[in-house]
Amino acid sequence: MKTKSPVATVRIPINQCQKPSGWLGRFIVWNMNSRHSKVTDWGLSHITVKPQDTILDVGCGGGKTVSKLAAIATQGKVFGLDYSDVSIGVARKVNAHSIETGRVEIHEGSISALPFSADSFDLVTAVETHFWWPDLPGGMREILRVLKPGGTLVLIAEIYRGAATKTAQLAEKYISRTGMKFLSIDEHHGLFADAGYSDVQIITDSGKGWICGIGKKLST
Ligand SMILES: C[S@@+](CC[C@H](N)C(=O)[O-])C[C@H]1O[C@@H](n2cnc3c(N)ncnc32)[C@H](O)[C@@H]1O
Repeated sequence: MKTKSPVATVRIPINQCQKPSGWLGRFIVWNMNSRHSKVTDWGLSHITVKPQDTILDVGCGGGKTVSKLAAIATQGKVFGLDYSDVSIGVARKVNAHSIETGRVEIHEGSISALPFSADSFDLVTAVETHFWWPDLPGGMREILRVLKPGGTLVLIAEIYRGAATKTAQLAEKYISRTGMKFLSIDEHHGLFADAGYSDVQIITDSGKGWICGIGKKLST
């Protein structure tokens, strides 16, 4: 009898986290909306979101972060962007009312070529997504381009290399098969600094294995 390897069983959901598709992707995206809520709140608690802010959430998945941000930036506007049509569909459903009133827009597109002009956003957020980008340093520079001078990028994730959690250990074990960019605390710092961000802070909750990276675009 053929037995399933443990890698095969983790592989389907991992691919689905990278680019959700089909009915399984739709299920996973709805599920991530609740599963990532606590780490998102924790990450956002380290920055200030102002009522007038124009904000972009990249890799927005099912759009829960977009709705959280829209509830704070009541006089601003929030954009979500994702390259998965399944994520886009769920994000539009979740934010239907705010889309109707013109306070939210959800765009299909890639982090590698953001469909926005330079100096557009006060804040860019990226939750549980940066480790999937095909060119991580390039994505960081692309975000820097669309940030206004003085604007902030916050990367939030519930996993980093070196965290003493089971999830981090599993990710480390299967890294060559998943293709994740699995960075340590120091590597996160280097990622921001090398891309040209200033005032870089890397904050962790070591018990939970959560990480939050913050960097600013220099004011001119
Ligand atoms: C693990 S999900 C996280 C979704 C959401 N941010 C959350 O916290 O629930 C990763 C999301 O990033 C998107 N994504 C991954 N790589 C991307 C890229 N290169 N450009 C745009 N979106 C990307 C995926 O389609 C997926 O919706």
